[in-house]
Amino acid sequence: MKFLHTFILTAFMLMALVSGQFSKEDKTNHVIAGEPARYLIALSPEIQRWVTEEEKWELRLSGHKFMDITGAQDSDSAVVNTQSPWDIPVRFPSKCVMQEQVKELAGNLSKDAMRENLHKLNGFYNRYYKSDYGRQSSQWVLEKVRDIIKEAGADGAVTVAPFTHPWPQISTIARIQGRTNDTIIIGAHQDSLTITPYDTSKLPAAGPGDDGSGAVTIMEVFRTLLIAKDVAGGLMQNTVEFHWYSAESVGLLGSQAIFRSYRQEGRKVKAMIQQDMVGYIHGALNAGSKPESLAVVRDVTHFDLNAFIKTVIDEYCDIPWIDSKCSFACSAHHAAAQAGYPSAFVTDFKDPAFDRKDEHVETRHLLKYISYDHMLQHAKMSLGLVYELAHFKFSNVTS
Ligand SMILES: *[C@@H]1O[C@H](CO)[C@@H](O)[C@H](O)[C@H]1NC(C)=O
Ligand SMILES: *[C@@H]1O[C@H](CO)[C@@H](O)[C@H](O)[C@H]1NC(C)=O
Repeated sequence: MKFLHTFILTAFMLMALVSGQFSKEDKTNHVIAGEPARYLIALSPEIQRWVTEEEKWELRLSGHKFMDITGAQDSDSAVVNTQSPWDIPVRFPSKCVMQEQVKELAGNLSKDAMRENLHKLNGFYNRYYKSDYGRQSSQWVLEKVRDIIKEAGADGAVTVAPFTHPWPQISTIARIQGRTNDTIIIGAHQDSLTITPYDTSKLPAAGPGDDGSGAVTIMEVFRTLLIAKDVAGGLMQNTVEFHWYSAESVGLLGSQAIFRSYRQEGRKVKAMIQQDMVGYIHGALNAGSKPESLAVVRDVTHFDLNAFIKTVIDEYCDIPWIDSKCSFACSAHHAAAQAGYPSAFVTDFKDPAFDRKDEHVETRHLLKYISYDHMLQHAKMSLGLVYELAHFKFSNVTS
């Protein structure tokens, strides 16, 4: 019954949307006294509209993804980057050269550590960006990363700091300074929400797959990377950052804020790789899809970076890659692309027929369906990629 109710409400909202009841041109202000806050969202490069928070949930519920660009309006960085995401002029290696080091380090990746951390994240009632649980869960990520640095004895060259937002949940940025400021970023989002037409801040959302899986996978890659002496000692060619984004699920808010500020500061980001939903393969395997693969998303991603990611998977993973696609504003890599940085997205194995609209239905969001073996493959890919690129001399190609 609850689902029927949800369905009817969704149908209503969609009808309202289609019949144009959402104002497109109201650019005066987004909070009118006595009325709910309104947000400017982009549903595609061409379509923007003002919506309330409830309307955001409705869009997500009906399978739409969008970028909340309310905060981007006054920024001098254009909302839509003029450079196409797929051909930003950065050259990537054509082959892997760090096999000895990467394969030894990969042996240190621990499924138990990922399991333990995922159970912890999964234990927060929700990780909604405006709720106190969301704040607490983001503080836990920051503290956990601090502990990892301390345990590795890497304080000094390796730092971690919160990136604060106008809402309670923080983003966390860990930084391994290298010899140059050319920067490789591995990202995941730490927020979660349950998509319903009701007040989602009060609803449970454990989000083990979306994106607890990515958050703990990159945490484990970070821990493992610090085992390497040259890494912890700040001796790598390039700088590496690990990002845990706040407020991805409501329109890429955290990642957009970070990449806008990076762009304004003129940061030299050479590659950004997002890890979002990297542990749910149950649906695809159940549907008879095989072989289990890593899905490299082709749209809104960088052509040459994708090619190198495939080379890395061939070299360091035990399962193959498949080409996949997602959508506009699919995950935080789109925020990096929008800021003019080469970015990519690797996600878990999907049945091509798998309906992503269902991904937030509770049954798909149970810890028991998470595959740590699959997450280990994502960890090997991320470790190999970050290690290779951190030791690569990027040439100053400009166009
Ligand atoms: C990493 O793995 C190597 C080789 O198995 C082992 O000797 C070393 O103790 C491990 N290091 C850590 C910190 O787990
Ligand atoms: C890296 O950036 C910092 C901050 O802008 C600057 O102080 C430093 O000199 C830069 N290092 C290199 C190697 O360019």
